[in-house]
Amino acid sequence: AFATRRFVRAASSAAATAAAKKLIVKHVTVIGGGLMGAGIAQVAAASGHTVVLVDQSDEILKKSTKGIEESLKRVTKKKFADKPEAGAEFIEKTLKNLTTSTDAVAVVHSTDLVIEAIVENQEIKNELFKRLDKFAPEHTIFASNTSSLQITQLANSTTRQDRFGGLHFFNPVPMMKLVEVIKTPMTSQKTFESLVDFSKAVGKSPVSCKDTPGFIVNRLLVPYMMEAVRLFERGDASKEDIDVAMKLGAGYPMGPFELLDYVGLDTSKYIIDGWHSLEPNNPLFAPSPLLDKLVEEKKLGKKTGEGFYKYK
Ligand code: NAI
Repeated sequence: AFATRRFVRAASSAAATAAAKKLIVKHVTVIGGGLMGAGIAQVAAASGHTVVLVDQSDEILKKSTKGIEESLKRVTKKKFADKPEAGAEFIEKTLKNLTTSTDAVAVVHSTDLVIEAIVENQEIKNELFKRLDKFAPEHTIFASNTSSLQITQLANSTTRQDRFGGLHFFNPVPMMKLVEVIKTPMTSQKTFESLVDFSKAVGKSPVSCKDTPGFIVNRLLVPYMMEAVRLFERGDASKEDIDVAMKLGAGYPMGPFELLDYVGLDTSKYIIDGWHSLEPNNPLFAPSPLLDKLVEEKKLGKKTGEGFYKYK
């Protein structure tokens, strides 16, 4: 009984210390090994974190790992241009930090941070977080990489709303320096600080934003791209001239139609339709008949060979 009492006292004081101190993230579980998740796993492993990448099948994970290896080779060629040995060592070390699994529940028991980057579907994400909440340790922070869903709603599927935030990375993750760190009204300051520190530790520049549709970048970028489509739809200017204008007149590296094709027209439509249903009277969120038509014709941009432009 004495030993038990001592154990309980030690455990509760450890929990109190953990609650008072901000968590330094060392072990990371990334769920979803697609475009974003693989990139996040790569930068986390490359910066010395131990990472488990989770997806639905070994086949998918094999593809993710191959993609990471190729990306690491590209990064290394640039970073260690005249030190090939140091480059090889960097790749070896990074890959040593990375393992894969098809069983999220089995791997979260030893993780400090879970980053979710699975399919953009509220119900599927909620179900995943609810399940992991039961198996992850008390101290573990949950984060979602969602672009368009509310972080608050995802947090509400767990009992750890104070240890839940958004970590919104950008594509391609190894190249893009920005991370938007999203704080809901329930996210604790310590959790927020841990997420900011983690973003810096993986070599990114974090900015912070409340849980508002589109956060910072997409909130400005998507209505801008939609305005470009509307300008073109009205026949006020050609898409080629709009692209040239924004590149030469505003200094943007890509015009809005080039960017729409790069992002994927289906993705842009998904985002704007979601916001339109939230605020039907906001003219910035109005759907576009031309965008809808292209998506219906499966002209989704670069990935399908045709969007606003043809690629071949
Ligand atoms: P993707 O389709 O390339 O990858 C999603 C992966 O999740 C797939 O490999 C799929 O097999 C896996 N998956 C689905 N359900 C799962 C589950 N229950 N358990 C484990 N794995 C599961 O998608 P992408 O583009 O990587 O997007 C992922 C998330 O990142 C989405 O929430 C998206 O909104 C967000 N995001 C996407 C960006 C982009 O440019 N594509 C940019 C920033 C955020």
